[in-house]
Amino acid sequence: MSNRVHVFDTTLRDGEQSCGCSMNVPEKVRMARKLVELNVDVMEAGFPMASQGDFDAVDAIGREYAQVTVAALARCHTGDIERAAKALERAKRPRIHTFIATSPIHLKHKLKMTEDKALETAVKSVEFARRFVDEVEFSAEDATRTAPDILVKFARAVVDAGARIVNLPDTVGYSIPAEYGYLVGTVVRALDGKAEVSVHCHNDLGLSVANSIAAVQAGVRQVECTVNGIGERAGNCSLEEFVMALKVRNDILPFVTGIKTEELFPASQLLTEIIGVGVQPNKAIVGRNAFAHEAGIHQDGYLKERTTYEIMDPRSVGVPSSQLVVGKHSGRHAIADRCTHLGFRPTAEQLDAIYHRIIAVCDKKKWLTDDEIGNIARAAMQA
Ligand code: KIV
Ligand code: ZN
Repeated sequence: MSNRVHVFDTTLRDGEQSCGCSMNVPEKVRMARKLVELNVDVMEAGFPMASQGDFDAVDAIGREYAQVTVAALARCHTGDIERAAKALERAKRPRIHTFIATSPIHLKHKLKMTEDKALETAVKSVEFARRFVDEVEFSAEDATRTAPDILVKFARAVVDAGARIVNLPDTVGYSIPAEYGYLVGTVVRALDGKAEVSVHCHNDLGLSVANSIAAVQAGVRQVECTVNGIGERAGNCSLEEFVMALKVRNDILPFVTGIKTEELFPASQLLTEIIGVGVQPNKAIVGRNAFAHEAGIHQDGYLKERTTYEIMDPRSVGVPSSQLVVGKHSGRHAIADRCTHLGFRPTAEQLDAIYHRIIAVCDKKKWLTDDEIGNIARAAMQA
């Protein structure tokens, strides 16, 4: 089995389904360009049946790029599939992504359908989608609340009907890694290489990245994710976290993606600019504090040797440099370093005075700007 993991980006579909994150056509087209630079393998550009804007975005993005597969979402309904096919008509590398729920809870309350009927609908829908495109992905919505033998039955049937990719979403973010690994591994073994198995994890319990990694360890070779982890409710598996986990822990996760990791931070920034919703400061990889050190002990260690407190070079994800924050936890080493950086050469005694002044100010203020540090240093050196 190859160790290459395909990255399926759904920022423009599931991502934009999150509160306050919707994008219009020019915004999607702009973000799509960055996703191509990031080198994702598949980009889900929208749900054409949902709106004219989604239809137009799929059309515009699909006909522009030959180097990435462009997917359009469709429920297992002929109308949805026809609409997705129409939006993809001019696409250079089209994929129809069709889905139906398979869990008892969704079948009973949402679809009001028997399992046999859902199976028949899934098979017919995949066959119908194959009339338009060669690449059809089938998703068993709410797979993690579906019994493994039922999932295997659906997976075998849709592959026989022509699906090339079978996705097993943790739609409600319910699964835990070992359990998910077992579930998806069962389907991987049952399909025995006849189709690619994919995962799509939501983050309701904060486990979407861990679940996606467990799935890859169990043989899955496509992972669906979004920039900044945006998506329904608590979001989807964060693309940047998943990709960097594979890269940084390649010693025990011997898998590769095609992602140009230097584009991760620029992609995150662009998405924030477009949707006007940023990530929390402590967000892994792309948050404002992801490479900022404040504690004196950490700053001292970092200044002696960066790898004491950094497992990634910030430049490897497109962050220009680490940051030593001058706040009340800072030590003399970091303050001396910042003074040097600002052009001051204090004596040991002056540095002591600067240090005490900074700590006193930072008891009232969270951190200091370079200007404020400069003023304190100047005053201490003139005293
Ligand atoms: O979360 C989910 O199940 C989905 C499917 C449509 C893939 O977004
Ligand atoms: Zn989803």
